[in-house]
Amino acid sequence: MSVKKIGVLTGGGDCPGLNPTIRAITRKALSEGISVVGILNGWQGIVEQNTVDLDLKSVSGILHKGGTILGTSRTNPYKNEKGVEKVKKNFKVLKLDALIAIGGDDTLGAASKLYAEGLNIIGVPKTIDNDLSCTDFTFGFDTAVNVATEAIDRLHTTAESHHRIMVVEIMGRHAGWIATYAGIAGGADMILIPEVPVDINEVCKSLKKRHKRGKDFSIVVVAEGAKLKGENPVLKKNAKDAFGNVLLGGIGHIIGKKLEEATGFETRVTVLGHVQRGGTPSAFDRVLATRFGVKAVELALKDDFGQMVALKGNKIVSAPLKSAVGTLKTVDMKLYEIAKIFFG
Ligand code: F6P
Repeated sequence: MSVKKIGVLTGGGDCPGLNPTIRAITRKALSEGISVVGILNGWQGIVEQNTVDLDLKSVSGILHKGGTILGTSRTNPYKNEKGVEKVKKNFKVLKLDALIAIGGDDTLGAASKLYAEGLNIIGVPKTIDNDLSCTDFTFGFDTAVNVATEAIDRLHTTAESHHRIMVVEIMGRHAGWIATYAGIAGGADMILIPEVPVDINEVCKSLKKRHKRGKDFSIVVVAEGAKLKGENPVLKKNAKDAFGNVLLGGIGHIIGKKLEEATGFETRVTVLGHVQRGGTPSAFDRVLATRFGVKAVELALKDDFGQMVALKGNKIVSAPLKSAVGTLKTVDMKLYEIAKIFFG
């Protein structure tokens, strides 16, 4: 075994399950006689040599906590002045034999490139969006779906009492996974996702038909990345983060206004936002995160770098980082067809 010291970082948007992963990596590594150093605030921490040693005490009591004890950022070493050079240099300075990067498409995209440049890197997939290829699920997603489902349940009772349309805008950037799962689980009467451009006339027709059959309220779930036919996604701000991502938001209000005008049914809009990302991870996410963390250390023990741990069926496997990044995993249309049975 050549690995004696492992670094771990969390990059990109936080999500429930990061702390259980850090705990699992640390506990497994220490049990194998490997020391662990936490890199603070994603790639920024290795660029700036901002680290903390991780021991049994530092990961005690964090299993059920949301967020990340290591902090996170959307720093992209490839967009930083001499960023890659500094990462390579500090890898040596910190005497790292391996680095476990926990992140989504952006963080793991950088990880994949750094591996190609010779660094011993292993990836762990996380994101509430569930849009990473090569893995059936990422942790964070299940918790976000539960939060969104609970919100839809709550909106249901108020929608029903006031005979209103309730539009709920849900996160997920360019993939409608959270919207589709929470919409099915919450009995949504319409689910609008980025994968299927929205024909507003069809949505109105469907809701009117529903009202005609005696249902005088409706729940419309809208993914933040959904777009009206022939139009672009709606942006909250005209700015991009370091990975080039635009900040989405606002489609819920646009859809809500159009629905109210065209149907005459009173409409209210709720934007769930970051509550979907915060708070304690679900049991499913804690278990998945734990299994991913342990597997990542097992790969390091075998010097099997350039891999991302993944879930396939009920098995934890690995896939080359370069096949996992770059192509987003969008909603399975067979699942969306199931959701459609309950529209209107
Ligand atoms: O990728 C996770 C995510 O929560 C997306 O669903 C959302 O579009 C984005 O991050 C929000 O980013 P920020 O944390 O910068 O507001």
